Amino acid sequence: MKPLKQHTIWGLRGSFILAATGSAVGLGNIWKFPYITGENGGGAFVLMYLFCIALIGIPIMMAEILMGRRARANPIMATAELCEHAGASKGWTAIGWMGVLAGLLILSFYSVIAGWTLEYALAALDGKFAGLTGETSQALFDGLLADSDLMLQWHSLFIAMTIAVLALGVTRGLESAVRLMMPLLFVLLLILLGYAIKEGEFATSLRFMFSFKLEDLSWEGAQIAMGHSFFTLSLGMGAIMAYGAYMPSSQSVGKTVVIVAILDTLVALVAGVAIFAFVFATPGISPGAGPGLMFVTLPVAFGNMGAGLVIGSVFFVMVILAAWTSTISLLEPGVAYLNERFGLHRIVASILLGTISWFIGLGSVYSFNDWSELQFLWGKNYFDSMDFIATNIMLPLGGVLIALFTGWKLRDEIILHDLKFESAWVFRLWRPVLKFISPIAVLVILYNGIFPVLRAVLVE
Ligand code: TRP
Repeated sequence: MKPLKQHTIWGLRGSFILAATGSAVGLGNIWKFPYITGENGGGAFVLMYLFCIALIGIPIMMAEILMGRRARANPIMATAELCEHAGASKGWTAIGWMGVLAGLLILSFYSVIAGWTLEYALAALDGKFAGLTGETSQALFDGLLADSDLMLQWHSLFIAMTIAVLALGVTRGLESAVRLMMPLLFVLLLILLGYAIKEGEFATSLRFMFSFKLEDLSWEGAQIAMGHSFFTLSLGMGAIMAYGAYMPSSQSVGKTVVIVAILDTLVALVAGVAIFAFVFATPGISPGAGPGLMFVTLPVAFGNMGAGLVIGSVFFVMVILAAWTSTISLLEPGVAYLNERFGLHRIVASILLGTISWFIGLGSVYSFNDWSELQFLWGKNYFDSMDFIATNIMLPLGGVLIALFTGWKLRDEIILHDLKFESAWVFRLWRPVLKFISPIAVLVILYNGIFPVLRAVLVE
């Protein structure tokens, strides 16, 4: 099967890896991974997480790249074209449609949290963390959450930043952005790590993250690890498929995916170790703080250590970069679709979709203040409802469909043609995992995501 037309390809070698790693590394790694590790027993959780990345994440990521690169089109047109070629039902195009929609939904609330990091970077630079205690730090955070105008301003700015990159196009926008921001992100992370080793409670932190106790292995932790492995690699909604459409045919899919997965995991682990080293070095605060770890606990640590002003600023600038290279991947599938299907200029397409997502995000801004009492889905506020629909339902559903489609529907010759640069054992190992293990594992994620809510509704 030939591509429909000459399609944009990343200009430089390594750009796909940077773009995919940029998409993968985000708030999930720096904000969420450390606190769910803290809540689920440290080393035991890390082990289960690594297992899920290998068994679920890597095979599905390969499948997404393959689909995008084979069709050289955005996820909606790519799935349509592959269906036709494979003689499969048109119904499979749901993968593309659901992906574009999931991207809009995730961006809508992701950008609200990303907006907080803009406020916190400014606060760090302003020296507002100096001498913070647990209570004053909590008050600072509560103050932000209560101020809907301020949150709205940062949410709008983050969406505008996302639109700006997408509007510039694939090579001038996305590619330049990741080539500039990803190396900077790595440098900032190394500075943090260096400082954590020198000044933090590094050994305690290492022990906390990696000491493995059998009794800490839990089914609940395993479920959280499964769901997170999916989110952190940006799977299930076509982001990686869209980026894969720009990947040169000569690049090995298997090797690339392993590099992306390793980089993503390394960033999460290093960020976690550094964060806990700071937390353990500060008396009176604890690592098990949950979602408040980054916005309440960590500023206390920064405000009470030498060079805290610099290190705090470095930290939050790094988080902004990580979030920014993630949000662009959430909108790219939709922008590419409007551009390739209707010839809409990318500037118009990104403003249009960015505005829709911004609008959906208003509810998330207000769910922390004016609307905090309003319930949308089964007792959940607006923010949690959006997160639930997108992360717990749409992403795993997309993931199962991608695994089943690539595993069962695509003919071997298509896949072999595209995997000609892989060693034979990659194919032999990957196909059965994709056919059987990945879908079952993702169905478990889906079931566990929905079941508690279903049960609560039925019991009522
Ligand atoms: N992976 C990113 C993170 O960890 C979030 C993200 C970006 C994402 N694009 C995605 C999640 C696509 C799911 C699907 O923060």
